[in-house]
Amino acid sequence: MKPFSKALVSAIALATAVTAAPLKADPKAEVLHYWTSGGEAKAVKALQEAFAARGGEWVDAPVAGGGGDAQAAVLRARVLAGDPPAAVQIKGPNIQEWAEAGALADLSNVAASQNWDAVLPDAIQNIVKYEGNYVAVPVNVHRVDWIWANPEVLAKVGASVPTTWDEFNATADKLLAAGIIPLAHGGQPWQDATVFETVVLGIGGVDFYRKALVELDMDALGSDTMVKVFDQMRKMRGYVDPDFPGRDWNLATAMVMRGEAAMQIMGDWAKGEFAAAGKMPGKDYICASTPSENGYLLNSDSFAMFNVKGDDLIAGQNLLAELILGTEFQETFNLFKGSIPARTDVSRGAFDDCAIKSMDDMVSAADGGTLLGSMAHEIAQAGAVRGAFIDIATAHFNSDMSSQEAVEKLVKAIKLAQ
Ligand code: BGC
Repeated sequence: MKPFSKALVSAIALATAVTAAPLKADPKAEVLHYWTSGGEAKAVKALQEAFAARGGEWVDAPVAGGGGDAQAAVLRARVLAGDPPAAVQIKGPNIQEWAEAGALADLSNVAASQNWDAVLPDAIQNIVKYEGNYVAVPVNVHRVDWIWANPEVLAKVGASVPTTWDEFNATADKLLAAGIIPLAHGGQPWQDATVFETVVLGIGGVDFYRKALVELDMDALGSDTMVKVFDQMRKMRGYVDPDFPGRDWNLATAMVMRGEAAMQIMGDWAKGEFAAAGKMPGKDYICASTPSENGYLLNSDSFAMFNVKGDDLIAGQNLLAELILGTEFQETFNLFKGSIPARTDVSRGAFDDCAIKSMDDMVSAADGGTLLGSMAHEIAQAGAVRGAFIDIATAHFNSDMSSQEAVEKLVKAIKLAQ
């Protein structure tokens, strides 16, 4: 993990030099997030409304750009300027980095009063705690390794959702021959990396994913198995339409909805789009995990409260933290977002079959040691290492680079980035 620059650390020290006074003010919070698609906007509006219902003044600071890379640049600039937003959607090792730099408020009081330790699974606690204390509040669990399929389109070639990568290729070839786009995809680096990591998991298996993408084992990164992963990525490139470069992920989801493409590989924020359009799982669309041996690629959104001055802002941060992990809000928000609650004790009654599958699979993956952090979505890796994976996945996907060359470049890039 790369440490923050001296300039950033001193900006943080200046911003936090004043200690908080007793809190009497009306709660207020500027909230920096990147939830701007249809389903995402509905989910974030639910938080805004819950905050307003308790007297909170919400200052919305959305930064468009799936996966959050654009937002990360805005956050750094704001912190450097000594003016961090009160609440920021960040996750994974980024939380640890900001906590280490002294930028985050300690949420121990809210956590103790709501007994977060008792309701959050270990995998989530590990992400949002720094040196044993809560420094972020988790909103949800998003699974990344999903296929979203249009059953009517698959039926045109007599196919159902593929359960192995060979089947995936055979079905995609049939669709191509029938003049149908097999894979709806948006050519943005983080989306290429999303497909790449599901292929690493599927072709390499759980242990290989862990060695290569989590532990950065050079033998795994430079192996024949990784060559096979890039071979499969080359096939995937042949299954997307020519207009894919730069397309937003939600527009790719819409292609599946409209029957213009058969499948999309994307995390379950895609389900938020289907839901926002009134589509029903099992009828209008099918969700299935991408082929793997019981793997589960975990992504979890959370909000960290940055050290800010002002009783109103601190009251706002405390209120937000309390609301976000409330049982009722966890249900409302995650129904819109396509994710499942971060809390384990929320009633399952209102959730659809895709969500129930995610809940069950997450528990069995945690028990069986097959629960893995997503690289593309900043749980397994962040910063320069994630950047290096994404760069190579994208460079390979968008050129005629051989699999062998991609593997060599990957090994070099990861060595340099560490
Ligand atoms: C986030 C989701 C978001 C998606 C698209 C993911 O990394 O975890 O909350 O909906 O990116 O922007």
